[in-house]
Amino acid sequence: MTNRNRYVLFGHPVSHSWSPFIHGLFARQHGHEIDYQLVDVGPERFRGAALEFFAGGGRGANVTVPHKVAAAELANELTPRAQRAGAVNTLALLEGSRLLGDNTDGVGLIADLSRNLGMALQHRRVLILGAGGAVRGVLAPLLAERPATVLIANRTSERAIQLAAAFADLGPVRGAAFQEAVGQRWDLVINATSASLGGGVPDIPAGVVTPWSTCYDLSYSRHDTPFQHWARQQGAAQAYQGWGMLVEQAAEAYLLWRGVRPDTGPVLEALATL
Ligand code: ATR
Repeated sequence: MTNRNRYVLFGHPVSHSWSPFIHGLFARQHGHEIDYQLVDVGPERFRGAALEFFAGGGRGANVTVPHKVAAAELANELTPRAQRAGAVNTLALLEGSRLLGDNTDGVGLIADLSRNLGMALQHRRVLILGAGGAVRGVLAPLLAERPATVLIANRTSERAIQLAAAFADLGPVRGAAFQEAVGQRWDLVINATSASLGGGVPDIPAGVVTPWSTCYDLSYSRHDTPFQHWARQQGAAQAYQGWGMLVEQAAEAYLLWRGVRPDTGPVLEALATL
């Protein structure tokens, strides 16, 4: 195998990652020979490790927590959506040893909602729980779908207000405390908090989720997430988790690296049977 076909995921930790499996199936679809490795590096070693990887012939990298902001600083060029997010989840080697940084998280979420789950966002009312890096990564592609309104509700309301202000030129987005979401109709409720890392759900007041709400957890696990449980208890019409987003953002990264967008359907089916 030549150096031309080397790809990695930088993160900390990364041992739980499904990216090698997903990209391996993508490569098989197209008859490509790729080598995709997990690289666990702490924040102090990320920059050096990434530069070393590309100097050694690596072609592309995925980047996950906690390196997405550092990856944006490392890239020589950013796509507009990565620039808006201030975070990069995909690095690609360009001509002249330049590094392009992209962020495919948001477009991955939209692809999962629209293609896989049949949910168009135009004119819909969207509630996002959380105001951290995950939200920053998805806001621009989400607002591009022209929803009727987006409310970012966060435990720390100030953070939500600031984040909304930074994206207000792209569409109707506001920031507030969780309480503000009560008593309004939400077509889509996205959990973008990291509460599930501790096995919990954000402390959302009752009445936010209604029988016409679709709920979507950006995190994913082998079983239902705590947020999915909670959403069903609240009577949500549907409660999904983020496997589809994971596969779709990977497909967008593959497209950037190799010029073809893999068929995500068979990969989602394979993951569902594991
Ligand atoms: P990420 O990159 O995953 O978005 P982050 O930038 O650290 O991570 O943001 C984590 C988000 O989850 C924040 O919105 C955080 O709320 P605060 O801004 O109030 O800290 C939210 N969060 C984490 N644990 C939470 C919990 N137990 N309940 C509610 N919100 C929580």
